[in-house]
Amino acid sequence: MSNMVQFEHQSVMPKEVAELLVTNRQGVYVDATLGAAGHALRLLETYPEIRLIGIDQDAQALAQARQNLASHHNRTTLVKGNFRYMTELLASIGVRQVDGVLFDLGVSSPQLDQRERGFSYQQEDAPLDMRMDADNPITAFRLVNQKSEREIADAIRQWGEERWASRIAQFIVRSRQIEPIRTSGQLVDIIRAAIPASARRSGGHPARRTFQALRIWVNDELGSLSDGLDQAWRVLGPNCRIAAIAFHSLEDRIVKTRFRDWQHENQARLITKHPLTASTDELKENPRSRSAKLRVVEKLPG
Ligand SMILES: C[S@@+](CC[C@H](N)C(=O)[O-])C[C@H]1O[C@@H](n2cnc3c(N)ncnc32)[C@H](O)[C@@H]1O
Repeated sequence: MSNMVQFEHQSVMPKEVAELLVTNRQGVYVDATLGAAGHALRLLETYPEIRLIGIDQDAQALAQARQNLASHHNRTTLVKGNFRYMTELLASIGVRQVDGVLFDLGVSSPQLDQRERGFSYQQEDAPLDMRMDADNPITAFRLVNQKSEREIADAIRQWGEERWASRIAQFIVRSRQIEPIRTSGQLVDIIRAAIPASARRSGGHPARRTFQALRIWVNDELGSLSDGLDQAWRVLGPNCRIAAIAFHSLEDRIVKTRFRDWQHENQARLITKHPLTASTDELKENPRSRSAKLRVVEKLPG
């Protein structure tokens, strides 16, 4: 694979996002998860008069996005930070109200593909890092080597929805007593040994759920999402929308519940009664879109 290919990220449901997010063709929009700027570019190209504020907590992603958005630099402002502090980040550039916010959750393909980031269970000798934000002091190495067996088991069960969580935690603690667990390859071997062979035959890669749990833990992804949605709601103008793409049930549950709560409080109407999923054509081209669910909500005036 060339470097160029490794840095590509295929955006999920770009057409649907562009159609459903924008209600004001001269408005200001926030892409809270800018990544490689695929969605951002689509929005800027579809609506030549909008302004776009791109947020990402990953400095490398922002640098890549800056290049990809170079031809629209006069209509874009990029900000490094966690979207859970969105009101503060926007205030720092003098923005108090916006016309729409997009969340395309999780990690990007470039993050997964870069071995040294340690996100992937397929990269054998990668360091156990998994931070989206290099300034975050918590790494997967720290959690795996320092947290109690109980905390590790709870995290793997809760955020990985892994039925063998207790055994995996037990094997991790036993193994780190001999030597620290430094690489993704070591961790994959430990997980393999912990899951009985009969159970390993189904459910995809045995380490998938544990890696998901660790990634969520390192980046406090669910706490950030919860805060981020509330912050987006605060800065959102009347008749404006939030669009959120979730990639697993834990994320989607948070989005769904928050949108429903606002609806029940008569503050919002749901634009998507049921989540949208990728078309068959998109599924063929982009396997990452398989688990994606897009929900859109609109803030009512008043
Ligand atoms: C799936 S990618 C976005 C891809 C982008 N929509 C595109 O089309 O190219 C998610 C991005 O959001 C960023 N991210 C995830 N959680 C974040 C958070 N809490 N605050 C800021 N950025 C976050 C990640 O670093 C990653 O670059």
